[in-house]
Amino acid sequence: MNIIEFKKINKFFGHGSNKVHVLKDIDLTIEKGDFVAIIGQSGSGKSTMMNILGCLDVPTSGSYKINGVEVGKMGKDELADLRCKTFGFIFQRYNLLSNLQARENAALPAVYLGLDAESRNVRADQLLKNLELGNKLKNKPHELSGGQQQRVSIARALMNGGEVILADEPTGALDSKSGERVMEIIKDLHHKGHTVILVTHDSHIASQASRIIEIKDGEIVADTRKSDKIYPESEKPETVKKNRFDILRYRFLESLNMSIHAILSNKMRSLLTMLGIIIGIASVVSVVALGNASQAKIMEQINAMGTNTIDIWPGTGFGDRRAGRVKTLKVSDAEHLSKLRFIDKATPNVSVNGSLVYANYSLTARMTGVGSQYFDVKGRKIAQGRIFSDEEVDKIASVVVIDDNTRKEIFANNPNPIGEIIIFNKKPLKVIGITEKDNNPGPMSETMNLWTPYTTAMYKINGTNDINSITVKVSDNINSQVAETTIEKILTALHGKKDFFMINTDSIKQTVESATNTMKFLIASIAVISLIVGGIGVMNIMLVSVTERTREIGIRMAIGAKQADILQQFLIEAVLICLVGGFLGVSLSLLVGWAFNTFSEEFGMIFSTASIILALVCSTAIGIIFGYMPARNASNLNPIDALASE
Ligand SMILES: Nc1ncnc2c1ncn2[C@@H]1O[C@H](COP(=O)(O)OP(=O)(O)OP(=O)(O)O)[C@@H](O)[C@H]1O
Ligand SMILES: [Mg+2]
Repeated sequence: MNIIEFKKINKFFGHGSNKVHVLKDIDLTIEKGDFVAIIGQSGSGKSTMMNILGCLDVPTSGSYKINGVEVGKMGKDELADLRCKTFGFIFQRYNLLSNLQARENAALPAVYLGLDAESRNVRADQLLKNLELGNKLKNKPHELSGGQQQRVSIARALMNGGEVILADEPTGALDSKSGERVMEIIKDLHHKGHTVILVTHDSHIASQASRIIEIKDGEIVADTRKSDKIYPESEKPETVKKNRFDILRYRFLESLNMSIHAILSNKMRSLLTMLGIIIGIASVVSVVALGNASQAKIMEQINAMGTNTIDIWPGTGFGDRRAGRVKTLKVSDAEHLSKLRFIDKATPNVSVNGSLVYANYSLTARMTGVGSQYFDVKGRKIAQGRIFSDEEVDKIASVVVIDDNTRKEIFANNPNPIGEIIIFNKKPLKVIGITEKDNNPGPMSETMNLWTPYTTAMYKINGTNDINSITVKVSDNINSQVAETTIEKILTALHGKKDFFMINTDSIKQTVESATNTMKFLIASIAVISLIVGGIGVMNIMLVSVTERTREIGIRMAIGAKQADILQQFLIEAVLICLVGGFLGVSLSLLVGWAFNTFSEEFGMIFSTASIILALVCSTAIGIIFGYMPARNASNLNPIDALASE
């Protein structure tokens, strides 16, 4: 049975005037189990023919059939499959991968078959032991002699069965004794039923084959048969049936392993490449964390001003210096507003600075007359006692709520000051409640604050009905901005002109939120630019890496790697660099955050899991985006061109 059939095979190299006709109308059939030697002078086209035989190269014209199947009609993956399962290559210069051990080199073809590591190693060890390399399993190629390296490459050729052994000058680089040893092995393979095709220019070596084909200037000039002996196939590796998922998994693990190898063998370069990603990711994550922290801080302060409330002040705005003296707001305004449907409550606020006397203490304090809902609206919690009721407001009751500062000053030795009488501006007031300590220190944090019903402040303490401001609590389901405009219209109508201004905590909140978001977005986009620069660095290094490893790619393709395998390997490498960079970047940022939070009161950082996950996803994406082009370049290489590169 013919395993190989050439019909009118032609091969040209080059173009135009450089065009050379290397193989000329070659017709050739090779029987299964035969041992064929191809001889001829240097440059006669032996290697070219061999490369076409092994599906590393394609003929310019003609038909090539393997086991009756036309090779020209096969896709790249099918060709890779042939190289993987049918052919076993033995090269003149061994072509082992220098960073792999003998065992790993021998086992490599089985990776592309989808065999698991365990079975691969068992078989590779067995093959190497048969070739008297049992004690060199873990040696790398540079630790082996030429003859030993060639035997490793023979083991590799046999790994997936090696139905057809293609040997291009297998003894060319060896001394005569090692050469003889290799020839012994090759003859033995023939005896075990392998089809062997051997290229040599040494007639002594050729004479050991069953059939000798001589070519000259690309034509077969002689074809002599010396023996008809065909041996039955005696060894075949057990064909493993694995499911697709397992095969993909083993291939993926192998690519991962290779990528780690490659990254570790160029530590400095990998680290420098990662640096771009590290800086980019660290800055994005840090900027977002800083932004979050400052936003949270501002929001906390705004929230302390009350939620869903609008403050109405006299004057034209905060800068209005007359505002303190203008008394345009009246209690009646508050009463009027209270009656509106969309307003929960409107209470006048009166503030008085005065002297506070208790026992032998006398100090300056700030008294604010408020409504009973004030504490709720402003989020002030009561630590002891209670707040005053609406009834007490109506009755102008002489009650007071004091803050923690005041308690510390005058009741330092009294654990229960509720019920004590204090004197403010000569008016006695009964302490009914104490607020919790203010956790959100602002510019007023040292002030002694007292709160009393606004009626008491106006009529008992001040003796006038002037008020300082009005606090309006808008009903829950009402948009505070709409409420604000409506109130403005009503009050303007009441007063005849707009002699007041309003502070709406919701709109402040929104303004601050959108301002900090814009800020965050701006700084983050700068950080993103640094990420892109980092990505370009990765692409650059990957291109260099592909160029450096072109030969390795060629070897992998020759023993059965598909385009997808090569693509996957380089893509994983790029992603791995970026992902490790991302991890380091996030760690760096967390470290900076920790330092900030520990050593600085002013600045803090708040990290969100989402931003960290996003950063890692981002770095993976960068790896894929910027690694794709180099990886595709690598996978598109022609096996024979890649093999020929230095
Ligand atoms: N990629 C190529 N581009 C152009 N010419 C090529 C290429 N490969 C081979 N050739 C030419 O084809 C001819 C045959 O080359 P080939 O390598 O097949 O010779 P060979 O018989 O194997 O020689 P040797 O015994 O020296 O290995 C040579 O003249 C060579 O210059
Ligand atoms: Mg050659």
